[in-house]
Amino acid sequence: MTTSPRRYHITTFGCQMNKADSERMAGILEDMGFAFSEDPNDADVILYNTCTIRDNAEQKVYSYLGRQAKRKHEQPDLTLIVAGCVAQQEGEALLRRVPELDLVMGPQHANRLQDLLEQVFEGNQIVATEPVHIMEDITKPRRDSKVTAWVNVIYGCNERCTYCVVPNVRGVEQSRTPEAIRAEIEEIGGQGYKEITLLGQNIDAYGRDLPGVTPEGRHLHTLTDLLYYVHDVPGIERIRFATSHPRYFTERLIKACAELPKVCEHFHIPFQSGDNDILKAMARGYTQEKYRRIIDKIREYMPDAAISGDAIVGFPGETEAQFENTLKLVEEIGFDLLNTAAYSPRPGTPAALWENQLSEEVKADRLQRLNHLVSIKAAERSQRYQNRIEEVLVEDQNPKDPTQVMGRTRGNRLAFFTGNINALKGKLVKVKITEFRAFSLTGEAINL
Ligand code: SAH
Ligand code: SF4
Ligand code: F3S
Repeated sequence: MTTSPRRYHITTFGCQMNKADSERMAGILEDMGFAFSEDPNDADVILYNTCTIRDNAEQKVYSYLGRQAKRKHEQPDLTLIVAGCVAQQEGEALLRRVPELDLVMGPQHANRLQDLLEQVFEGNQIVATEPVHIMEDITKPRRDSKVTAWVNVIYGCNERCTYCVVPNVRGVEQSRTPEAIRAEIEEIGGQGYKEITLLGQNIDAYGRDLPGVTPEGRHLHTLTDLLYYVHDVPGIERIRFATSHPRYFTERLIKACAELPKVCEHFHIPFQSGDNDILKAMARGYTQEKYRRIIDKIREYMPDAAISGDAIVGFPGETEAQFENTLKLVEEIGFDLLNTAAYSPRPGTPAALWENQLSEEVKADRLQRLNHLVSIKAAERSQRYQNRIEEVLVEDQNPKDPTQVMGRTRGNRLAFFTGNINALKGKLVKVKITEFRAFSLTGEAINL
């Protein structure tokens, strides 16, 4: 036995929810006396927090895992953990595939890591995937950034989009109470963080599962009410939220964003397809016309708002004409950023069983055509920043040029300018934009 502190390593795949879960699990491990190790090969506990949204995300995990499983034969006291969405989806089957694993734990169990690990250290092999009520975490997350922080507001998803594994792996919606959320934000504000992002897979569902209705019959707690409730927390200068669902997006929310100075003018609203029949087959619950009306309404209140989204190409049965409707929507809305993906059939989802799957060639071709359009449109959108003065929250040094710092504008554009990170980290700086590219800007600080 060595006397140096035991070390842990975490690699995180997937979305912001997983990143937030990893920060909480890292906090728990540090509370237990483990020290962080960048290199998994120096660690005594290795945790992979996994994603299964598309097949390639899942396959990546298996290749990482294979290497560490081999290492365990030489170092039997190595503890191997698979957490997150692949763990939830595969459960026991993961142990058959990788018998070296000590712990398989679904996303709902993240806050229970200490308890689960103690059982592992007693010599058990554990699978924790049963649905549970998510308890508040009493340890402090180990956050990656010192400037921006994630705050979970609702876990899970009650939608049933026909392509999507998330409801299977993340479980039903569970909102945290406004009091617990505010308490976390107050702590973050007190620690010097400047920006928070409120997180939920379908953040517009926030509060539906909490008790109480207003005299008008609305839920007492909604995302809009939450924004008003946390807006005055000292220290916090910017508030963001994601992900919005077009089906539940309200004008009341748009008004709140326009009215509340800390809420940034950036909306991430996935649309998935620009074709109504495909949207119906996806069970998204809105039409492309409704999506356009939402964007028009946002721009009515905030003409300069940044708009981003997600889209899928090659959904089963998608014809060339239907795909062109997606191109048309992208052309006409003018997204600042769009995450695109080729449809990937996922186990346990309805669309995976349909017979009208498209070939990989067709999907790859459509993805490439869409991405080409996306970067043209993003460059057009970037152009409007030229010569403007933008507020940038400095997060880090530019990894490609140490004489520069980098941060984000309120519209979430990455921006670079000359400056010293030690002096500027966490500062809001007015920057005159002198160069623009599709997805980033360069400028000069004014009045530094
Ligand atoms: N809750 C969010 C998205 C969660 S998943 C929403 O409702 O929009 C993130 C993105 O992954 C989705 O927006 C979708 O574009 C993509 N995605 C999900 N399942 C997919 C699949 N089976 N194949 C390809 N892309 C998928
Ligand atoms: Fe998946 Fe749809 Fe839920 Fe988003 S809203 S997480 S796409 S099921
Ligand atoms: Fe992936 Fe799970 Fe997020 S499947 S995208 S990590 S909810």
